[in-house]
Amino acid sequence: MPVPVILDCDPGHDDAFNILLAAAHPSVDLLAITTVAGNQSVDKTTLNARRMCEAAGIRGVPIAAGAAGPLHARPHGGQLIAEKIHGGSGLDGPSWESGPGAGFGDGEPTVPQDPRDALTLLRDTLIRHPAPVTLVPTGPLTNIATLLLAHPRLTDRIERIVLMGGSAERGNTTPAAEFNILCDPEAADIVFGCGVPVTMFGLNATHQVRATPEVIARLTALGTPLSRLCVELLTYFASTYREVYGFDTPPLHDPLTVAHLIDPSLVSLVRAAVRVELTGTWTRGATVVDLDGVTGLPPNAEVGMDVDAAGFWDLIVEAVRVLGGAPNTP
Ligand code: RIB
Ligand code: CA
Repeated sequence: MPVPVILDCDPGHDDAFNILLAAAHPSVDLLAITTVAGNQSVDKTTLNARRMCEAAGIRGVPIAAGAAGPLHARPHGGQLIAEKIHGGSGLDGPSWESGPGAGFGDGEPTVPQDPRDALTLLRDTLIRHPAPVTLVPTGPLTNIATLLLAHPRLTDRIERIVLMGGSAERGNTTPAAEFNILCDPEAADIVFGCGVPVTMFGLNATHQVRATPEVIARLTALGTPLSRLCVELLTYFASTYREVYGFDTPPLHDPLTVAHLIDPSLVSLVRAAVRVELTGTWTRGATVVDLDGVTGLPPNAEVGMDVDAAGFWDLIVEAVRVLGGAPNTP
């Protein structure tokens, strides 16, 4: 039976590939997509989710917009966005006025935005689906925390939460904090403490899945409009990761979540107590992962550790092949 999934995301280049993977693989039943501010404003991340579905021919998956910012306004105001990595649109690289994502031809997708907000779509989907649903957040956790606060009895309709965020090592936005968690530490604290099984794929794991020139070449060889768009996305993503972080190849963080659902053997997991730092002057937003059990706290999450990167990229390339309509070469 395919795993029923809701993606909660902030597309964002890596979120975009997670949408493709979830839509393409028969082991996953993509029920809905909700969006949140993060890599870009929520208006832009919502448009980008629609554009990605437009480009990949993904239809019938409702897309609803969620939180425009964290549960609690940042101390000095303002909004964390990752424009330096994902660009002004949040999905820079391709032309969205032409090609498979163009929709009506002006960059406006034919794929609609659901009239409900993310909280309502999440609630409706959880109530109406005949079995508990897996939530896959890959952006700031504001929507998920809001759902848990507003509808605490719906936790029995949530199978598990498989998230990209945090790190068992260091951060990427401060030395201690990873972007998704730092955008809304209070929301992350609620999620890690909610009692629903949580699986966390942090930077210590996601930095192992790099979009190398070999991966780009495999996608290019597919020769479809969708594969060309994916190459444009990864080429842009590689340029900004090189410029900002000095990485020779960019890590495609978010699809490690759905890849794990498809093939749990791809990433080793350890159970550990995970806490979110809320008050540290230099460490706010850090995920403190007790890998050695020194706190005596009971484990509250599974934490991704070692990754089969080759197996991961096989799934990504196959998803782009299937959705783009490329032949299945032996
Ligand atoms: O720190 C990486 C995470 O932040 C990824 O999910 C990326 O898309 C951004 O949301
Ligand atoms: Ca993301």
